[in-house]
Parts: sequence; structure tokens; C-alpha cells
Amino acid sequence: MSLSLAVPLTLPNGATLPNRLAKSALSEAMGTMDNRVTQALVRLYQRWSAGGTGLLMTGNVMIDRRFLGEPGNVVIEDERDLPLLQEWAQAGRDYDTAIWVQLNHPGKQSPKGLNRENISPSAIPFKAEMQSFFATPREMTEAEILDTIARFANAAGIVKKAGFAGVQIHGAHGYLVSQFLSPRHNVREDGWGGTPEKRRRFVLELYAAMRAQVGADFPIGIKLNSADFQRGGFTEEESLATIKALADAGIDLIEISGGTYEAPAMTGAKASTIEREAYFLTFAETVREHISTPLMVTGGFRTLAVMQAALDSGALDLIGLGRPLAIEPDAANRLLAGEEMRYRVKPIKTGIGMVDRMAIMEVSWYTRQLHRMGNGKVPKPNESGLWSFAATVVANVRGTRKTRRMRAS
Ligand SMILES: Cc1cc2nc3c(=O)[nH]c(=O)nc-3n(C[C@H](O)[C@H](O)[C@H](O)COP(=O)(O)O)c2cc1C
Repeated sequence: MSLSLAVPLTLPNGATLPNRLAKSALSEAMGTMDNRVTQALVRLYQRWSAGGTGLLMTGNVMIDRRFLGEPGNVVIEDERDLPLLQEWAQAGRDYDTAIWVQLNHPGKQSPKGLNRENISPSAIPFKAEMQSFFATPREMTEAEILDTIARFANAAGIVKKAGFAGVQIHGAHGYLVSQFLSPRHNVREDGWGGTPEKRRRFVLELYAAMRAQVGADFPIGIKLNSADFQRGGFTEEESLATIKALADAGIDLIEISGGTYEAPAMTGAKASTIEREAYFLTFAETVREHISTPLMVTGGFRTLAVMQAALDSGALDLIGLGRPLAIEPDAANRLLAGEEMRYRVKPIKTGIGMVDRMAIMEVSWYTRQLHRMGNGKVPKPNESGLWSFAATVVANVRGTRKTRRMRAS
């Protein structure tokens, strides 16, 4: 059987990916409490690389240590950790795997108490049931906006210097870039909000600054929502216009996802969506009619037949996998050999209604599997949701305290 999954992909800048399977970013929270790369991270990426996935996108790496998304995020602000970053970048060397770094700023979407304060384009609170987890942010000043753009560019330059194969902007899931794009979260009336063009100015300037820093040959990608699935949020129409503008500006890879922590479509809330796999494929088909930039689609892919059909339809170039690779790091090798994955991704439940409705629950369960692999163990696909949730709450409370103590000293 000839598998289109196994065909290498050449990006417009000439870089080649060995196959069509890509690990989508999975936040590892495996840095030290002062946000440095650890050997566990290097080990985890060696494990995935040996598992056959052609492109490994790192979990989100922060560009400003004052604004973390979780305790234990890696931060890139300067070259103090260049040797460690070089080791991480080399983790895919033995199998020719491309490792790209996903850069992020959480904006307001950061757990209460972790940072001294949180900032966002506008001071809009979260919906009521989430306010005990996420604080209302302060509106960013123009100087802070320009500083944030410069920080993304600086971090991209360090990523290139460390030897990674590319960089990705996290423009999805309700973090800062996505907050700028959303009319619900960005109600500014200056040059950075008020119309769709002004709301996308932040991401376009961010891209231009990064490009100026890394040059024409280094791949830059973005992960973007097809929509936020929130009333008054970022729509498919605005997403398409943003994608076209980024394609015109010369971006190398666009990954399509969707949702935010307030409306977690990225992990496929509805049973019918989970059933049909490939949550965002229909939107990708529309995008494909308008641009020729390589497209990656992430969310819900589970079976070889659906992956092959999606690739063969021509709607996309790369299959993005998240949770499957957290429980089965060799999944790509099996798929490339024409076999189905060994384990099926199942909904993770604690039995506590409010907790089970939030994406945070899934994220914490899968993060624990990443930690196991980083520590040289195998994942535990049947680990209890409730146990994992309790352990994560304890770890996060400890991590938040340690992060704050570290900052105070
Ligand atoms: C533990 C965990 C951590 C995640 N961290 C990130 C992240 O850092 N950046 C990102 O863009 N998406 C992140 N995601 C979303 C995944 O990249 C992906 O979009 C989502 O899991 C849907 O794909 P899947 O159905 O193959 O899992 C995370 C998801 C999980 C489960």
C-alpha cells in the first residue's frame, strides 16, 4: 500500500520534512522553576524523534518571564541558556526529525496567582465560572505592545541560533495573539483594535519583526484558530482574512486549530465532533481554496483511514497529532507502516462536573504522561482522571509558590 503519510514535504523555503506526521505543541511544564531547559525535556524529544514523527513542535515557550502560562514553562529572553537550548534542538538529530519551537505569551490566560499581574489588549474579565481560576487583566500600553513584539523577534533569533529547524507563533486557543484577534477580548480603539484590520496588526507586525530577525530562509509558522466558538469572538471569516494576510506576508506553515479555555473546541467537546475526527477539516478545505501556503490541521485525527483521506483530498499537507503522541510516542512509526495506533484517546473524567467541562482537566492528565516519558518511564494510558487531577492541583500550587519565591529572591 502506498501511503501519502510517508511522502516527504518540502516547504517553500526549501526545508524538507521526512513525512506528513507532525506533533502539535503539548505544553510540557518540564522546565525548572526558574524556567530553564531540563534533561527530561531533551529525553522526551529524543523519545518522540525515535517514534518517527517528522516534525515536532515544542510545547509553548514563553518570551517574557514576567508572564508565564504555567509553572515550569521554558522562557527564552536572552542567550543565558543557549547551550541547553542547543541540546534540546539536537534531540531529533539521530532520526532527521525537525524540531520547531512554539513561542507564546499567555496574555490574560494564566492561572491566578502565578504572575504578579496579567495583561491583555483590553481589561475584559473571564466568564463568571472561570473567574476563580483566571484574574481580570490590565490593558496593555502601546509601549508594552511594541516591547512584546520585540521580545518575540528576539526569542526567534535565539531559537535559530540554538539550531532548531523552525519557529511557530502560538496564535490560537485564547492566548495573547488570539486575544488581539478577537473582538470579544480586544475592544481597543487605538491602532491595535476597533476593526478586523487593526486587530490583526499585532500578529502581522509580530511576524514581520520575527522575519527581519531570522531572515528569509528560516521557517516561521503560526497556529491559528479557525474560530473561537464564543459569542462575539474571532469568526471563520476573520480567521480566513488573517490567514490570507499572513500567507501574502510569506509565512511558511499555517496550523489550524480552534477554541479557547472558555470554549475548548481544540480538544473536541461534542461527541459528534469526536466521532468524525479531524475537527477543523471543513475550514481547512475553504482555506485551501485561497492560499497555497502549506497547511497543517490539528485536532481529533485518530485513524489511518481518516488521515490518509484528509491528505489525499489535498485540503492539507501535514496531520497534526497531540494527545495520541502523549500516550503512544511511537504512533508515527506504526501509522507509517500502515498499522493503526495501539491506544485510542478517550475522554478523561474526574466525575466532578465543573472540572470535567474544562480543557484544563485533559491538559493536566496528558501533561503527566509527558513527565513520565521525560523521566524515562512509559506512558500510562489507563491512569485515573481523578488521581491525576488531584496530583496536578498539588503540583501547581507548589509550582506557583516556588515560582513566586524564586522571583522574590
Ligand atoms: C497536555 C496538552 C498541552 C497542550 N499544550 C499546547 C501548547 O502548548 N500549545 C498549543 O498550541 N496547543 C497545545 N495543546 C493543544 C494541542 O496542540 C492540540 O491542538 C489538541 O490537543 C488537539 O489535538 P489532538 O486531538 O490530536 O489531541 C495542548 C493539548 C494538551 C492535551
